[in-house]
Amino acid sequence: MSSSPPHITFLSPNGGERWEVEAPIGISLMEIAIANNMDMEGACEGNMACATCHVIVDPDWSGKLTPAEEEEEDMLDLVFGLRRTSRLGCQIIMAAELDGLTVRLPGDSRNLPSD
Ligand code: FES
Repeated sequence: MSSSPPHITFLSPNGGERWEVEAPIGISLMEIAIANNMDMEGACEGNMACATCHVIVDPDWSGKLTPAEEEEEDMLDLVFGLRRTSRLGCQIIMAAELDGLTVRLPGDSRNLPSD
């Protein structure tokens, strides 16, 4: 078992930039993003009422996350640029087994290239 803290990687909306950051266990992805000055608002502070914490999870990782509950799915229906692996960052809680998780920030453009 490694003693170094887990890390996750955020990708810019076009995938051109990547930032690997420390991800303390028990903290939500939304909080980690904000703590590291990522472009994420988290307006409702994790109450599943805003969807401004939308992230697109790397397909290799999406199956390893706890599946989204209906309330989260309902919020995701409201986001721009919804993808098959879209999640709310505030609902992904960091755990040791998520070390290496990679997610893409969606950006706020309506003209994102489709996957
Ligand atoms: S911070 Fe508002 S839904 Fe996640």
